[in-house]
Amino acid sequence: MVVPDSEDNVFYPPIDLQQDAHVPNFNSYLELYKKSIESPEAFWKDVADEFFWKKPATGPILQYNFDVTKGNIFVKCLEGAKTNICYNVLDRHVKDGNLGDKVAYYWEGNSPDHHSEITYNQLLSQVCRCANVLKKMGVQKGDRVSIYLPMVPELVYSMLACARIGAVHSVVFAGFSSESLCERIVDAQSSVLITADGVYRGEKLINLKQIVDEALEKCKERGCSSVTKCLVVKHQALRTKSGAACNKLQTPWDPSCDVFWDDAMRDSSDQCEPEWMDSEDPLFILYTSGSTGKPKGVLHTVAGYLLYTYLTFKYVFDYRHGDVFWCTADIGWITGHSYITYGPLANGATSVLFEGIPTYPHVGRLWEIIQKYKVTKFYTAPTAIRLLMKYGREPLQKYDLSSLQILGSVGEPINPDAWLWYHSVVGQGQCPVVDTFWQTETGGHVLTPLPAATPLKPGSATFPFFGVEPTILNEHGEELEGEAEGYLVFRRPWPGIMRALYKNQERFENTYFKKFPGFYVTGDGCRRDKDGYYWITGRIDDMLNVSGHLLSTSEVEGALTEHPGVAEAAVVGRPHQVKGECLHCFVSLKGSTEFNHSLVQELKTLVREKIGPIATPDFIQNAPALPKTRSGKILRRILRQIARNDRDLGDLSTLADPKVVEQLFNQRNEGSA
Ligand code: WTA
Repeated sequence: MVVPDSEDNVFYPPIDLQQDAHVPNFNSYLELYKKSIESPEAFWKDVADEFFWKKPATGPILQYNFDVTKGNIFVKCLEGAKTNICYNVLDRHVKDGNLGDKVAYYWEGNSPDHHSEITYNQLLSQVCRCANVLKKMGVQKGDRVSIYLPMVPELVYSMLACARIGAVHSVVFAGFSSESLCERIVDAQSSVLITADGVYRGEKLINLKQIVDEALEKCKERGCSSVTKCLVVKHQALRTKSGAACNKLQTPWDPSCDVFWDDAMRDSSDQCEPEWMDSEDPLFILYTSGSTGKPKGVLHTVAGYLLYTYLTFKYVFDYRHGDVFWCTADIGWITGHSYITYGPLANGATSVLFEGIPTYPHVGRLWEIIQKYKVTKFYTAPTAIRLLMKYGREPLQKYDLSSLQILGSVGEPINPDAWLWYHSVVGQGQCPVVDTFWQTETGGHVLTPLPAATPLKPGSATFPFFGVEPTILNEHGEELEGEAEGYLVFRRPWPGIMRALYKNQERFENTYFKKFPGFYVTGDGCRRDKDGYYWITGRIDDMLNVSGHLLSTSEVEGALTEHPGVAEAAVVGRPHQVKGECLHCFVSLKGSTEFNHSLVQELKTLVREKIGPIATPDFIQNAPALPKTRSGKILRRILRQIARNDRDLGDLSTLADPKVVEQLFNQRNEGSA
């Protein structure tokens, strides 16, 4: 790696920030990086020493095999050690750190009228009570608990309660459909489900319990009756001030299974001895889209995830005791798991937990919250930045954002325009922008700047985090040196990397390790420039990134072809100003079906119902025929170009019928926006 001398568009860390930062300059980054690669034992031992271990490790920091030709793929961290992550992120601070009265979360609801503060003491007490409730429901170490909750404090209580008793949580984003929830419950065979009666998203009221009941019904149809209890949080936004139900929605109720959260918690003790877990015991499953359509249950384990989320949070956001950290992600995604729940709590930090959306009740909502809580470190997605950019500077100018010190970006490549706006308008040119590249599978940041140390280039995730060794391969699996573009892979594990796909070792190995033996394959393309900076160029598999959420094209295709009028469907991404990418769907209809506005609406609704609103197609185009090779394979490259209206098609000789392409270009505008 070379630090660029002085070039246009390179931003150096502000001097103020550098003075007492954890990693104060590029040389100290290089030194620490070298130590993490050459002496991983020594490097990670220092980190592990900050935590409580009921029993120390007997094995090395990391043992692994990344080479499918040599046997099963595995990663183990600190084998033999016993600990509990909940103890480490709560009791340790309360008992040893005197942080009991420190605020762990400022909860800010969808409506500005709803907000509360939760101290570490209160958090610990709620978590223990919830842990006792789960135990009473029969949940034991190793059992799975599905959590389908909006961004309310009970979501954090539930996750940590599971971790405390050694149950494996599977949080399902509460914007997912009943079908998606069902699929995830069936795969995990969860015994308890935690949800809420409903939630407002902006002005829209969503009946979560009804979705849950539909999901459980579907589970039963598929022969899965694993869920025996459903714990239901009453959302305060659905109550009057006195706590009575506002009767805005009907909450379906089955007394043999359903229990209100408050009723269960009322008599529950706030003392609960943690279950001492092996370092490699599972902590959680989080489902992420897979290119074959069926979501993948990414499994993370206790000790490695603790060390890694702790350290990335500390260094990437240069964490200080007085910070107020705000990550706007939903906990239903990995970003929330690692940087709302575990990473900040492992550091004893104060975070904002925000339930709402950036534009409700007004487009200055995020800026208002930054001012209200004096947020120092702010972490969001490029799609949110692009959305807010559209409203210009005026909504920001009403608020005092001078508390901000560091800005983070995550989820998708950030285009330089959005980066520059974030840096100059939101950060007033004073705050480094840390563009963090990582995945559900990586557990925490893997390519990222360190705010006081790394000269920034807008749009580049810059350099590897400690312990991470990236490389770029060409199609033949050959490693490329210097300036290069190809497949982004990692040569060795770091403590926070996934350990498995839940109960599916074969898919785990096929998805991540088979293509290039010896490497973890991210599925992303990447370029390294002459200064050694890494630039993510986007997915190279059949996945799309819509507003920072990965979607599988085949999952959307599967939903479309469930419509009785659709014979075949092919889905590709096309650029979108706010979402980054959006869905352009080509549908071939069966004989008598007519392509018209109502069919388009039906198809959009179908996809929403099957997957969730995030997957709603932006364009649906009639495709009497699809461009295929003589062997019948759909040429997606060509569909992508049609979707983008890019006529520079190159060689079409592999096509069975080249006329199809012209036809699709001509019909392109008949698709509905
Ligand atoms: C993409 C989200 C460019 C990438 C944490 C990756 C990014 C996928 C960045 C993982 C970034 C995430 N720059 N692309 N800073 N961060 N991605 O599993 O394609 O929801 O593979 O994890 O998002 O998405 P996931």
